[in-house]
Amino acid sequence: MRSAKDFFTPLAVGAPTPLREVPARPSRMIHFFDPSNPKMASKVPQLVGSVDVLLGNLEDAVKAENKEAARAGLVEIARSTDVGEHTQLWTRVNSLDSPWVLDDLTTLVTEVGDRLDVVMVPKVQGPEDIHYVDRLLAQLEARAGLTRPILVHAILETARGVANVEAIAGASPRMQGISLGPADLAADRRMKTTRVGGGHPGYLVRQDPVAGDISGERATYQQDLWHYTIARMVDACAMHGIFPYYGPFGDIADVVACEDQFRNAFLLGCVGTWTLHPAQITIAKRVFSPSAEDVAHARRVRAAMGDGTGAVMLDGKMEDDASLKQCLVILELADRLSA
Ligand code: GLV
Ligand code: MG
Repeated sequence: MRSAKDFFTPLAVGAPTPLREVPARPSRMIHFFDPSNPKMASKVPQLVGSVDVLLGNLEDAVKAENKEAARAGLVEIARSTDVGEHTQLWTRVNSLDSPWVLDDLTTLVTEVGDRLDVVMVPKVQGPEDIHYVDRLLAQLEARAGLTRPILVHAILETARGVANVEAIAGASPRMQGISLGPADLAADRRMKTTRVGGGHPGYLVRQDPVAGDISGERATYQQDLWHYTIARMVDACAMHGIFPYYGPFGDIADVVACEDQFRNAFLLGCVGTWTLHPAQITIAKRVFSPSAEDVAHARRVRAAMGDGTGAVMLDGKMEDDASLKQCLVILELADRLSA
């Protein structure tokens, strides 16, 4: 079992807001499984070591009649599975207004709190939700004699949650990160979509007409429905030194669009995503690890910048203190992934 010292590795990044206490390895994929589903549960041991996070889901997608079986299944899996050094065990509990959440938290912390790294809390509306979970966790941990704090991860999936995202990110030292919850958020905002994440073919801009002729051929460009929310979430997380994540991509067969959506999130600052299927694990690993070319380029810039001040020309492009800082973000991620 890991100690608090292994789990919390302070970072030494130069310029960006330093991350707070964070798991020693970045979590590129949070892989969801339903502990009430025997077929899925039986595959959990095979995933150990090949995913950064295994998450036992107790909330949506688990039928109401299976809530207790899912909770008990997760306790059993947590007890019987050694997740090793490279995989963390998380859970997503039911929402704070549900009849199940109190038992979710009480049972899990009491029974397997020493094996649980992070509790994901859905439908977080504001900092008060995090304060509640924080207090309850502290009480349950104290009663169970746990010495390592369980961290908290919020899902951003209500309009009110988005409006309060900065306060949520800073609501507790337990905050590990925030994920976008595009499906619930779309419903809460009354968006006219019916999907779980991803784009929409109707969300377009059309090229201006040539010489005012609106009947001519004009290209259309699909826009990203999630750009605004991801950008807000990334800023809130960066401000408070915690991790931002993309959420679910429901069109499992469309691996190309999935990769595009994950890559947009990575480029905007997210460190990882949820994965709902093994095919998405491979995509997340590829997308959320810096490419060999990016790492090589970042090393060249770092070498060329000497003491890190001033400006140099490399391949016809100006590099300076600020581009060096971006390169250091890439190099730091590469170091953490190879640690
Ligand atoms: C995830 O929970 C979502 O609602 O997208
Ligand atoms: Mg949801």
